[in-house]
Amino acid sequence: MTTIATAKAHTNIALIKYWGKKVPALNIPTTSSLSMTLDKFYTTTSAEFSDEASDTLILNATNTDSTRVSKFLDSLRDYYGDFPKVRVRSENHVPTAAGLASSASSFSALTGAMFQLLELPKDEREMSRAARRGSGSASRSIFGNFALWNMGNDDKSSYAESFYDEDINLSMIVAEISSSQKKMSSTLGMQLAQTAPTYSAWVEKSAQQLEEMKQAIITHDIEKIGLIAQDNALGMHEQNRQCTQPFDYFTEQTRAVIDFTERCYRSGLLAFVTIDAGPNVKIITDKTTEKELLAKFRREFPEISFEVAHAGGGLKYV
Ligand code: ADP
Ligand code: DP6
Repeated sequence: MTTIATAKAHTNIALIKYWGKKVPALNIPTTSSLSMTLDKFYTTTSAEFSDEASDTLILNATNTDSTRVSKFLDSLRDYYGDFPKVRVRSENHVPTAAGLASSASSFSALTGAMFQLLELPKDEREMSRAARRGSGSASRSIFGNFALWNMGNDDKSSYAESFYDEDINLSMIVAEISSSQKKMSSTLGMQLAQTAPTYSAWVEKSAQQLEEMKQAIITHDIEKIGLIAQDNALGMHEQNRQCTQPFDYFTEQTRAVIDFTERCYRSGLLAFVTIDAGPNVKIITDKTTEKELLAKFRREFPEISFEVAHAGGGLKYV
């Protein structure tokens, strides 16, 4: 019998975003989404049965509120049968709750560890469904390179799968503007965004952009990928500003990095942005351009830390 199980999963950054739910309780989204898994940022999680009164979470060596983890474990109890309380130990090699997708890597790693601990068949589709119930974006982190999350309509039909399992020379320069925890979680942020009068138009456009994005990935067309991803992400953030309780993840520095990226593109370099639920910016470029672009950004923004990430692998057992 397995007594302790450990799994490692990488974060992923959506090129076509998930930003809204049809069924909030199950994280069934309003749009399908497509992401690239990153090599640089990941979570390692161990799970073991415990005789404590509740599930516990030790995150980065600190006892942490386990409400969300426990809710996820309860969903596994509902789906796969009851099991004892669990002690979860996790290390985030990514800032927590800063818009760098810690929930994606962490719920994917926890899913892997739990499937191993419970000795469930490691069917990737089923693991993706399970991870999705923990955090929608985690459904995609089961897979390496490019993953497509088919929105579906219900628990069975909503899962991610590998879309293109090759590195296409795409680079992401991550501008870590702030690593502090955001005030507005993704869960709440997207719920508010859905009240924007322009939201259904963004959803409709997203379906069309998804098809264009698939084509651009298959043909390794980084410029097209960047242009579509940028428009999709800026559109997502516009919903936050247009909704009934407007809010904005961007800071002055976010806007300055976006403007500078646009100037770089106009000067002939491949440079586009995508931004998640936080102030940090991911600059999309290719491996040939990344060094030159990185040097430019470091010169322009000496106070910001920049890291280059490439496509990474799927879930692994440690
Ligand atoms: P992010 O932008 O980092 O994905 P979210 O608000 O979507 O931020 O999710 C962050 C939340 O995910 C945290 O507040 C915590 O509840 C959960 N989380 C992050 N890392 C872990 C981890 N390693 N183990 C368990 N839960 C985690
Ligand atoms: C902006 O997956 O963190 O990163 O399902 O409520 O946990 P919950 O939300 P979460 O949202 C991610 C939103 C995003 C876009 C994306 O990753 O597709």
